[in-house]
Amino acid sequence: MCPMWVGTSWKMSKGLAEARRYVRGLADHLDGLAPAGVQPFVIPSFTALAAVNDELGADSPVLLGAQNAHWEDQGAWTGEVSVAQAKDAGAQLVEIGHSERREHFGETVQTTRLKVAATLTHELVPLLCIGESAEVKQAGGSSRFILEQAAGALDGLDPEQLARVVIAYEPIWAIGETGRPATTQELREPFRDLGREYGRRVRGLLYGGSVNLDNAADLLGIDHVTGLFVGRAAWQLAGFLSLLEIAAAHPKATG
Ligand code: PGA
Repeated sequence: MCPMWVGTSWKMSKGLAEARRYVRGLADHLDGLAPAGVQPFVIPSFTALAAVNDELGADSPVLLGAQNAHWEDQGAWTGEVSVAQAKDAGAQLVEIGHSERREHFGETVQTTRLKVAATLTHELVPLLCIGESAEVKQAGGSSRFILEQAAGALDGLDPEQLARVVIAYEPIWAIGETGRPATTQELREPFRDLGREYGRRVRGLLYGGSVNLDNAADLLGIDHVTGLFVGRAAWQLAGFLSLLEIAAAHPKATG
């Protein structure tokens, strides 16, 4: 049985002290063992990667991630951090193609493809984020759009490589303060289509966008969903711990 992936990106928040406090609390709570059937992950800012790695300690059940990484190992790329450097700081997973990076920082399908490849080369887990805008959804093009984003980043991988990829479907209209939480009803079709194409071939198919303690169990219940990628609701440790509990109690994790 595949574990339910439950993780959080802290986006551009938390200094070192807060990052350490959060993760120390998480490590103390878990005491070396993730809830059965659940794979937790935490994605801090680059500045906190090494500190968080240090607090988690070796053999932590919590996977540590980077929010982005450059595909080249090194070179004249001012301001960038390579997959190799993120790995050196302790990252085991690399988030790729979040809509905020696509919108504000010129992330393209082509760069997501390069980043997925580099992440696999370094034997880390690529967490590929895909999601459509409200306009695309209104025009009825959600599934087509996200399948194209996924294919653009993943086509050409062999089955063994694809099996190491985690996909997070995060509709842009559902993310963040200005987002509207998606209903389970409107997520069924995109997940059906993603599930058909990738369900058995990738390591996980997560949902993200305004996940909270009230909707988490229902979202996990959608066919093909095997985890949650959470922002605000997990930025306080108590919220993250509650989400881990909800996932652990879910029939998909216990069955
Ligand atoms: P949110 O963020 O849970 O705060 O909506 C989700 C995300 O951007 O991954």
